[in-house]
Amino acid sequence: MKQQLETIRQQALAALDAAETPAALEELRVKLLGKKGELTAVLKQMGKLSPEERPIMGQVANAVRADIEAKLEERKTVINAAVLEAKLAAEAIDVTIPGEAVTMGHEHPMNQVLQAIKDLFVGMGYTIVDGPEVELSDYNFTKLNTEEGHPARDRSDTFYFTDDDSVLLRTQTSSMQIRVMENAKPPICILAPGRVYRKDEADATHSPMFHQIEGLVVAENITMGNLKSALVTVMKQIYGQDAVMRFRPHHFPFTEPSCEMDMQCHKCHGTGEVDGAVCSTCHGEGWIELLGAGMVHPKVLSGCGIDPEKYSGFAFGMGLERMAMGRLKITDLRLIFDNDVRFLNQF
Ligand code: PHE
Repeated sequence: MKQQLETIRQQALAALDAAETPAALEELRVKLLGKKGELTAVLKQMGKLSPEERPIMGQVANAVRADIEAKLEERKTVINAAVLEAKLAAEAIDVTIPGEAVTMGHEHPMNQVLQAIKDLFVGMGYTIVDGPEVELSDYNFTKLNTEEGHPARDRSDTFYFTDDDSVLLRTQTSSMQIRVMENAKPPICILAPGRVYRKDEADATHSPMFHQIEGLVVAENITMGNLKSALVTVMKQIYGQDAVMRFRPHHFPFTEPSCEMDMQCHKCHGTGEVDGAVCSTCHGEGWIELLGAGMVHPKVLSGCGIDPEKYSGFAFGMGLERMAMGRLKITDLRLIFDNDVRFLNQF
């Protein structure tokens, strides 16, 4: 039996020395010391020994057990240290490897221009307001003095949501004039930028979705002169003091009198031609239309509960894309929406 214990000891110590992983070590511990282990198996035979031999064998067995336990602890420490070492090596970060460059974006050119325009109007006392793109026909047309059957309401120009044409994607930010006037008393001085939608085919100067910036000023003694000075002041800030602009008479149902403001084409400088061909930016017009404007129609004022005998106002609606094209010297509107970084990076 002593021999048996000695063999167990030698084999156990050798096996423990050879174990390389925490799992292998655990497997050995069960095999050697567990209830069904080799040592237990030998100890079960102690009963067969004589009373004199029993304590002596007991001592040997305990010594073997203590040796195996000590070896287990020793290997455990070594293996755990090795595991930790391997883990640290695997997770090590080489701080000398060059990093991946982060490509920084920047504000979209449209937003740059929008921001510049907003800043100018805010500087003149305007408040920025926001409103829904899905709008009631009432606000987009009816309350803007645009009756049933008016060509602007045509289904071929407008995205309607309902069969009765009562809900639509707003075709103009002028709907905001009504929303503001219904809720505020004069003096009113607001700027309402936002997206508008029309069933236009996309070309160099048209897109089915574009941006407008609506302005509305209502107070006592507001005149067309106030309208003109506000717009000329802003345009000269945007396009430079020598920018050439003109006002043209026009018609809008919700303003009277009405006008449009044009800027001389930045591509052909008003000649309508580039290298002997028709200028593609202004279609040979020599001018680019920037906005529609006028004095708020008395019917629109009274419809919103504002006394037209006491108050007057002006309104304008400018096309942001048109403004951006002139300011950034862009010749095709579609470039603004393509989001090609080679284009965007130029601004
Ligand atoms: N809403 C008009 C348009 O989209 C522009 C406009 C705004 C005209 C305000 C007059 C007053 O063409």
